[in-house]
Amino acid sequence: MAILITGGAGFIGSHTAVELISAKKNIIIIDNLCNSNIQSVENIRKITGVDFPFYKADCCCDADLEKIFEENEIQTVIHFAGFKAVGESTQKPLKYYKNNLKSTLSLCEVMKKFGCSHLVFSSSATVYGAPKTVPIKEDFPTSTTNPYGTTKLMIENILKDICKADPKFSVACLRYFNPIGAHKTGIIGEMPNGIPNNLMPYITQVAAGKLKILSVFGNDYETHDGTGVRDYIHVVDLAKGHLSALKYIKNHSGFETFNLGTGTGYSVLDILKTFERVNNIKIPYKITKRRPGDIAICYADPTKSKKLLNWKALLSLEDMCCDSWNFAKKAIAGK
Ligand code: NAD
Ligand code: WQD
Repeated sequence: MAILITGGAGFIGSHTAVELISAKKNIIIIDNLCNSNIQSVENIRKITGVDFPFYKADCCCDADLEKIFEENEIQTVIHFAGFKAVGESTQKPLKYYKNNLKSTLSLCEVMKKFGCSHLVFSSSATVYGAPKTVPIKEDFPTSTTNPYGTTKLMIENILKDICKADPKFSVACLRYFNPIGAHKTGIIGEMPNGIPNNLMPYITQVAAGKLKILSVFGNDYETHDGTGVRDYIHVVDLAKGHLSALKYIKNHSGFETFNLGTGTGYSVLDILKTFERVNNIKIPYKITKRRPGDIAICYADPTKSKKLLNWKALLSLEDMCCDSWNFAKKAIAGK
């Protein structure tokens, strides 16, 4: 029996693959490498010393999925595959609706066909829109401000309906907050194409000298230092949350949402200062105007995940900053 990881060559998928293999699970990865590369699959093998089947294939293709289910006995799927760039999704909404929705619909159809009814889905804190209060609980109202977020919410609703119609189906819908950091070995981590949209990859590229200066998007928010506050979570803690979710869906049916965050909010300047301190590197920055669509504060209430999944984040902001740079300095600067 194996666990199929869609998008397993990507940032979160590769770290989850490592944690699953370390927990002695059999895994199979499907990824079309549209936002990753084959080296990342090799790196998972290198860290774990374990080989596993890899299919370079598209989750939107029913025939490719059927072939994988025919060739393997798949018990559970963890579905990471999808596009994730908020800004691009506003420019190219069709690209996002097509890939994120079609891949999930095809996957669920093929799962049903092969009698596989256990799924862990990668959702996002973006489905909470602009929350009225923090910390955010799973039962807070949902809303979205961009097509990417809308795809996540639409998929959540589709999965809810599938669970209602089929009592065997069990879905853990994990709402990630802001994953950063990298594997301790520095062998896998986050390496976005082009100029990064997200804070930590931008900082590491400035640290490596690839970009000149970090723009801090606004210092007039109602936060402790005026800059935006987020719930940054180490990607290895996040990956371990998937192991806990796998245990949960084995013993439960139906659709359940879980926040995967630390429960602590840090500002842009907190991140910047901690990165500088733990890595002993100066990051030049300037304050610029707010980024459209950004909210002031977002952090999780992770109580439900602690209670039902028996999971909580353990790694510190120092670990996140240190491990992000340990990976990036090799990957970008070759140091
Ligand atoms: P990523 O881009 O690094 O990984 C996604 C992987 O999916 C990539 O390797 C890509 O090649 C693959 N992929 C995309 N479409 C595919 C398709 N149709 N068929 C096969 N493979 C396909 O992204 P990530 O940061 O690892 O995110 C993983 C999941 O978590 C995504 O669904 C994302 O929306 C969600 N998420 C990410 C964050 C974040 O900040 N990184 C936050 C919340 C939720
Ligand atoms: C964090 C903070 C910025 C870049 C995004 C998605 C969300 C989820 C996680 C997928 C904010 C500030 C950033 C920069 C800055 N992804 N910032 N200068 O926007 O919280 O969340 O990634 O589901 O859906 O929206 O993350 O890393 O872009 O920003 O000052 O160059 O850093 O304003 O306060 P965000 P981020």
